[in-house]
Amino acid sequence: MRVLSGIQPSGKLHVGNYFGAIRQHLAFAQKGQECFYFIANYHALTSLSDKKELEEMTLHVAMAYLALGLDTAKTTFFCQSDVPQVTELCWILNCQCPVSMMEKGTSYKDKVSKGAAASMGLLDYPVLQAADILIYNSNLVPVGADQKQHVEMTRDLAGRFNRAYGQDVLVLPEPYIVPEVAVVPGIDGQKMSKSYDNTIEIMASDKETSKRCAQIVTDSTPLESPKDPDRCHVYALLKLFAAPAEAQEIAGKYRAGGYGYGQAKKRLAELINEHFAAARQRYADIRKRPDDVRDVLRDGGRRARAVAEATLQRVRDVCGILTNP
Ligand code: ADP
Ligand code: TRP
Repeated sequence: MRVLSGIQPSGKLHVGNYFGAIRQHLAFAQKGQECFYFIANYHALTSLSDKKELEEMTLHVAMAYLALGLDTAKTTFFCQSDVPQVTELCWILNCQCPVSMMEKGTSYKDKVSKGAAASMGLLDYPVLQAADILIYNSNLVPVGADQKQHVEMTRDLAGRFNRAYGQDVLVLPEPYIVPEVAVVPGIDGQKMSKSYDNTIEIMASDKETSKRCAQIVTDSTPLESPKDPDRCHVYALLKLFAAPAEAQEIAGKYRAGGYGYGQAKKRLAELINEHFAAARQRYADIRKRPDDVRDVLRDGGRRARAVAEATLQRVRDVCGILTNP
């Protein structure tokens, strides 16, 4: 079974990315599954037009994955742009994709309603994602809940392609979504996202983390009054980091009253800083060796290209696209 996922280098990685996706990525690799993980820099072009920022964030994502413990001997870890075959497959899939399917994309509609320019790239984003998934014959795609529709569109497109050419060339993938962490809230209570400026970053300093936790929006229940932990964003985050016994104990303190949001925020920051302490240390070391990181990506790219070219050649053949090498 082949596991595949991608992550956009559109900003610094955050706690939502970690619980919604990265943790599952690391676990599949650890369990010895065949994993392909990549940095979706072509997707990031739909929201980023700053050369330096895109380059820096691409390396940030690579370094953060390595610091978090991704075993690159067991995983094919690469940069999307090192596999140009994927944009070629995107074009071929575009030719089977109804415009109306893309116009119904919730992520597209959401981004446009929040002020993003309705570019062709943004509209076509799911088709490029489908090409990413299908070119490696992926079976399982671990992602957060917001990506479910994109995996469904991928299945739809693969089915359309196979029917159009009367052959089962493309493999239909399944999403893998962990329900309890499907949507991690940000400091404003909305879904935590790089684009909403509401994140708690994985690789921030202890001090920055405490500052961010202190900014989490809470209601104005006075310190001495009982509080409902299940309606509090601080507690929602705490529950992800604390051991179950401690999470239960804190829930009890919320309900009893006399326990303030400030205390919960302080404990949350401590837990986050402990959780990522070793990874942050490794991240600081890896940042001093960018050439080694480029080597890892180069090696992953080579392996990914070989698989991608084989699929693409089968696709070209069934479509009647002659190449004259
Ligand atoms: P962002 O929304 O911050 O730009 P991405 O779209 O790059 O994040 O998402 C990378 C991965 O992290 C995807 O699998 C996505 O579903 C997951 N993810 C992002 N934000 C969250 C969140 N708040 N809760 C759960 N998963 C998330
Ligand atoms: N759209 C995904 C996100 O924003 C990133 C992505 C691009 C992806 N290609 C993919 C995820 C392929 C899974 C599989 O998170």
